[in-house]
Amino acid sequence: KGDPRLQAISDAIRVIPHFPKPGIMFQDITTLLLNHKVFKDTVDIFVDRYKDMGISVVAGIEARGFMFGPSIALAIGAKFVPLRKRGKLPGKVVCEAYELEYGKDCLEMHVGAVEKGEKAVVVDDLVATGGTLRAAIKLLECMGAEVVECACVIGLPELKGQNRLNGTPLYVLVEPT
Ligand code: PRP
Repeated sequence: KGDPRLQAISDAIRVIPHFPKPGIMFQDITTLLLNHKVFKDTVDIFVDRYKDMGISVVAGIEARGFMFGPSIALAIGAKFVPLRKRGKLPGKVVCEAYELEYGKDCLEMHVGAVEKGEKAVVVDDLVATGGTLRAAIKLLECMGAEVVECACVIGLPELKGQNRLNGTPLYVLVEPT
């Protein structure tokens, strides 16, 4: 923190009240993606943090983790592993359920995407309750990978997502006020 790039990142995220339903303040990162400098700074901050940590896997969460994860993976010399919603991956998958506001969904990863002992970072745009990151961590760990950290552009600290990650560190760039 104290990095001047963080204010610009925060300013580039558009907040849309009452989307997708009343009471939700939607954090829209598509406006960040429109600004080349801010988009690059966002990726660069993660790259600087993870480049010398022996990380060989960047796992991105559908859908908006796919907008940041591959750039980070390419820059640090890691593979990119998509973690997708139920039924989207064509090969053999491992599946981990997570809570939605109403009911449950599943996050899936291809079997064989990671090997035992690989070091991974999980990337998404936003952490709210932490339920999605928790499922991502479980998928990677059940295949023998070590999740070094979860990395998100935006954190909502009042929802205490960190507490659901079983001790895996969480790194976020900005927190809406
Ligand atoms: C959002 C966000 C995270 C997740 C965070 O995705 O991009 O993936 O919710 O919530 P949590 O911390 O409470 O689990 P969303 O469910 O909107 O899916 P989408 O990216 O496919 O639209």
